[in-house]
Amino acid sequence: MKPNVLIAEDEELMRSILRQLLEGEGCRVFTADSADNALDIFSTNNVHVTLTDIKMAGMDGLELLDQIKTIDAEALVIIMTAYSSVDSAIAALRKGAYDYVTKPFVNEDLLQTVRNAIRTKELFRENRALRRELDKHYSFAEIIGTSEALQKVFRVVEKVADTNASVLIEGESGTGKELIARAIHYKSRRAALPFLAVNCGALPESLLESELFGHTKGAFTGATADKKGLFRSSDGGTLLLDEIGEMPQTLQIKLLRALQEHEVTPVGASVPVRFDARIIAATNKNLETEVAENRFREDLFYRLNVIEITLPPLRARREDIQLLVKHFISKFAKEQNTVEKVITKEAMSALVNYHWQGNVRELENAIERAFILSNDEIELENLPPKIKSGATNNFEMRDPEGFRLTLEETERRYILEILKSVNEDKSAAAEILGIDLSTLYRKLKRYEEI
Ligand SMILES: Nc1ncnc2c1ncn2[C@@H]1O[C@H](COP(=O)(O)OP(=O)(O)OP(=O)(O)O)[C@@H](O)[C@H]1O
Ligand SMILES: [Mg+2]
Repeated sequence: MKPNVLIAEDEELMRSILRQLLEGEGCRVFTADSADNALDIFSTNNVHVTLTDIKMAGMDGLELLDQIKTIDAEALVIIMTAYSSVDSAIAALRKGAYDYVTKPFVNEDLLQTVRNAIRTKELFRENRALRRELDKHYSFAEIIGTSEALQKVFRVVEKVADTNASVLIEGESGTGKELIARAIHYKSRRAALPFLAVNCGALPESLLESELFGHTKGAFTGATADKKGLFRSSDGGTLLLDEIGEMPQTLQIKLLRALQEHEVTPVGASVPVRFDARIIAATNKNLETEVAENRFREDLFYRLNVIEITLPPLRARREDIQLLVKHFISKFAKEQNTVEKVITKEAMSALVNYHWQGNVRELENAIERAFILSNDEIELENLPPKIKSGATNNFEMRDPEGFRLTLEETERRYILEILKSVNEDKSAAAEILGIDLSTLYRKLKRYEEI
């Protein structure tokens, strides 16, 4: 990008000298013969750096500086002043000028001052872009949950972020494992370096190996160039080994060695190379069971599981559902540039009561769908059918003649209602009802007898 420099200078000769100098530097130059004109140019163009003479007829350079700063507090203004009036330059610095040069100036000095200002402008911009990225994705503000279970997870994240300890994140699909892994990375000193993720279950073994550890040119057919591999590409940053439970046994041993030695041997290479990446592993399996059934190496499990974070399923923290629903509604409203919609009580109660097998991801998708299908208000009708059926207002506490139900009849209807809402999945229903599976079977058997 060409830097845009504005010159405010009332002497014509000086203006053209400065223009030549700066164009020679590759700048796009705007010139103004008065502070008024300079202000016009400043407010209608994307000026990166302003160079202004201090003494000009009409509005002077100091006033121009003031005006520019009210338009953009971060604007970079360089003041040019006669050697004899350095005092006014000091006054300008106090008012927020970036720097000053004294006239007559040595060309190289002036250019160096402008270059510094341009670089500072670039840094501002990069910084802002980075900030926005960080704020958008990884602050806790974007991770919703007031339930004690999630608060506990946040506390662990805060504690471990700045260590190098391996973290194992367990949780059902869609519970936010990747979100938490990113939060750990972006809260750590490694935040400015890469966060990379690989799904260990998505690649065939040989590909996964070179994806992780890299390869040398010619190591196998198709290896036309050296490949660094994810361990080294995330050097200084964080590597998320997602679906670690799917990792093939032969690679498990190589991974263990890499973690122990902090070095990897690329496929086809004979010497290992060091890496410094923080390792986070995630899985929706219970790794201890995998170990017990000899599908996952016990030694690797202990290596990865220095810090354990378990994300509870959404149905075990229903108090978070309302907040998440509101969060997603405002997220989609922002994305689609429309106003936030309200949600009816019936729709909300169906969402709260539903058995969320796909957890937060499923909830997010349901809200997105409802947002698109609804008018001003998100209603029960806008929810997917299986969620709709969980609405509590389906549940009538009187029989068709208007008589109140007995306790047993109420219980029977409630249990059948819950079963319907989870597609007759009995263990899911038992979990919602807070009873053993065997108790549920006993009750169902009894209803058949009635
Ligand atoms: N607590 C939360 N607050 C806000 N959004 C969340 C929360 N938990 C998860 N999400 C969102 O839900 C979706 C799924 O989260 P994520 O991908 O982190 O889950 P996962 O556990 O890695 O899922 P999978 O096992 O399917 O890979 C993402 O869009 C994420 O932003
Ligand atoms: Mg994931």
